[in-house]
Amino acid sequence: MRYRMTVIGTGYLGITHAACMAALGYEVLGLDIDVDKIRGLNQGELPIYEEGLGELLRAGLASGKLRFTTSYEEAGEFGDVHFLCLGTPQRAGGFAADVSQIDSALAALTPWLSRPSLVVGKSTVPVGTARRLADGLPEHVELAWNPEFLREGFAVEDTLHPDRIVLGVASDAAERVLREVYAPLGDVPLVVTDYATAELVKVAANAFLATKISYINAMAEVCEAAGADVVRLAEALGHDTRIGRRFLGSGLGFGGGCLPKDIRAFAARADELGVPLTFLREVDAINTRRRHRTVDLARELVGGSFTGRRVAVLGAAFKPNSDDIRDSPALDVALAVHRAGGLVSVHDPAAMDNARKAYPVLGYAPTPQDAIRDADVVLLLTEWQEFTDLDPTALGTPTSIVDARNALDPHSWQAAGWTYRALGRPALL
Ligand code: UDX
Repeated sequence: MRYRMTVIGTGYLGITHAACMAALGYEVLGLDIDVDKIRGLNQGELPIYEEGLGELLRAGLASGKLRFTTSYEEAGEFGDVHFLCLGTPQRAGGFAADVSQIDSALAALTPWLSRPSLVVGKSTVPVGTARRLADGLPEHVELAWNPEFLREGFAVEDTLHPDRIVLGVASDAAERVLREVYAPLGDVPLVVTDYATAELVKVAANAFLATKISYINAMAEVCEAAGADVVRLAEALGHDTRIGRRFLGSGLGFGGGCLPKDIRAFAARADELGVPLTFLREVDAINTRRRHRTVDLARELVGGSFTGRRVAVLGAAFKPNSDDIRDSPALDVALAVHRAGGLVSVHDPAAMDNARKAYPVLGYAPTPQDAIRDADVVLLLTEWQEFTDLDPTALGTPTSIVDARNALDPHSWQAAGWTYRALGRPALL
């Protein structure tokens, strides 16, 4: 059977999922309550920066397989399978996740589901959410939980070629439907389990990744104290296939819309369950310390005070190839320098508009060269290729640079006369 699908919530995950399902040949209806966003999407306008997704969106619209609506009535009539892709942000004033968008969407959709339907949750939620939601559904509507692991910058690639598919189901029928839905993806490892395990896989994976980053950043702190080099250390650790080299990139640490909030929400939920995951609080603390350390290193390089000093900030997005500034370590550092009296000039290849809107107090430069010109210190905070490709001999009078992502070649910067400093590495390399 060729299922007709709806995708409810058109954030990062929802737009990607909708466009990819349409690319697989399904008829897809995306839904959001944001009227302007839906109007834009129906005209092929992608509200985010994501490699390859705009083309896929426009191809879906052109083929007639994909369209968007704000009507739950239309969604209920249209779909056999309904994917929930709503945001679960950090709750105001606490660490727990706010699942109210999911509750509202389900309450709005359910009355329009007149025939047997499958609702599939993809959002990251506190364990126990799916059971609670399933208990509130009418007889003819079934729930499954199918977490999504896509990375920004690789959203299309990760959706069409996932490492694994996890299905949390309560019946063989639901499993059959979802196996069929994902069959066009080919031979992907599939783990079929219960709701709670499926919900936990997602947060456990993100907590593991965050822990791996904070682990190497804790080693960077030890390296700084002992005069050792964390980049060589990580390289040597990574050769051990049990450890692996990925996510051992030391530096300014993690940010974005997922890892920071997910580890906090996971720790909060685990507390409720009576299982204190205190190490996750340490993971968070190590991550924050790297931001302070970067500010301190920059202050040291400008002679102990930022007052009146020009500071070039390369990067605003939380990682390269994204315009996402949610919990961006780069902007956190830029703001701290600004508050300490520094004259900050930020450049980012994609996130300038978002940054300017959120932080109008910072200065912005149209090119990296403009940001760097006359700067007393340059901070590389997001490792865009545009920055790692910079020729240090072509940037005017050399001053100092903090490579907070361990992304530059120290020797070429030092040879060009720059004072080069990095996190977790000795001053002289
Ligand atoms: C993450 C997960 O990878 C993804 O599976 C999940 O679905 C959503 O959260 P994303 O937030 O897009 O994806 O970014 P990711 O590429 O994982 O990077 C997260 C942060 O960690 C970035 O700020 C990045 O700069 C940082 N990072 C990553 C490091 O500091 N070092 C590394 O070695 C890798």
